[in-house]
Amino acid sequence: MLSDLTEIEQEVNSFSVTNASELESFRIMFISRNGRITKLFDELKNISKEEKPAVGKKLNDIKKLAEGKYNSLKEKLADSSAVKETMDLTLPPAEFSVGREHLISQTLQQMVKIFREIGFKVTDGPELEEEFYNFDALNTPYYHPSRDMQDTYYIQNNVDKDKKYVLRTHTSPVQIRTMLNNKPPLRIISPGKVFRNETVTYKNYFMFHQLEGLYVDKNVSMRDLKGVLSYFFKKFYGENTKIRFIPSFFPFTEPSGQVDITCFICSGKGCKTCKETGWLEVGGCGMVDPNVFKAVDIDPEEFTGFAFGMGLERITMMKYGIKDIRILYQNDIRFLDQF
Ligand code: PHE
Repeated sequence: MLSDLTEIEQEVNSFSVTNASELESFRIMFISRNGRITKLFDELKNISKEEKPAVGKKLNDIKKLAEGKYNSLKEKLADSSAVKETMDLTLPPAEFSVGREHLISQTLQQMVKIFREIGFKVTDGPELEEEFYNFDALNTPYYHPSRDMQDTYYIQNNVDKDKKYVLRTHTSPVQIRTMLNNKPPLRIISPGKVFRNETVTYKNYFMFHQLEGLYVDKNVSMRDLKGVLSYFFKKFYGENTKIRFIPSFFPFTEPSGQVDITCFICSGKGCKTCKETGWLEVGGCGMVDPNVFKAVDIDPEEFTGFAFGMGLERITMMKYGIKDIRILYQNDIRFLDQF
């Protein structure tokens, strides 16, 4: 009889139910008056005196086991049917939204791709920058009035007293770092975040992105500069895009220029976007000032170079007709989702 008991015990343990009628079968089979366990109780009287206590105890244990199992199966079933009742299979599925790259990152990737095709390498540098790389090495000593061109966040530094830190106001310091660590020829672009203490308005933000380029080699001339920028803007805004240089000033380039492109909305005829001029300002450029080369130990008699810089927000806003820079950084999904 003990082996019968072990068998029943195993059956009880492994029994599972998925609905009420299976649960009822379990009850009938094991627990009811005519169930197998009750029957075994009836058989106890045929058992020898010596065996009775052990068998009786085991039988009682199995009875409790079966009753416990019944109750827990019943509870489980009640839980799962409750879930079923609240599930409405006729409801349309919840919208599944897929993340995407931020619009500025998209512009950055497009620009980087074009420049890489013509041999420019991407370089990177710190956003918390030493004043030396951001200004001094770029021919902008502290007394130079042109420091006022860029409203700077100066960062208090109690750790390293010899150095002064700023949040970089442009990505030109990456070019200084690259020239200090590498010998020409150099052909690099440095995209990234820059910071200026500007009043936030529809056209100014305290943080934005730049992509700057630098080309240093023997006999690099302004023709090369114009060729590279012209190639880039044709790829970026369309084959009919033309560029022009307007004289300008930057302390680190001589001569310096402002870069304009023909308005891609009206193709240069004059419209609202270009304020009827046919031209749009897209960046700054120039030939690397010999003083910058001296600061990084490159011989200006042997090498020449050009540099340029553009603001990604401006370029992106023009491309998509976005009127307010702030909307780029408010993380409004309804806006970001459109691109
Ligand atoms: N660094 C300049 C700026 O931030 C842009 C620039 C780069 C101009 C290279 C000329 C040459 O305004």
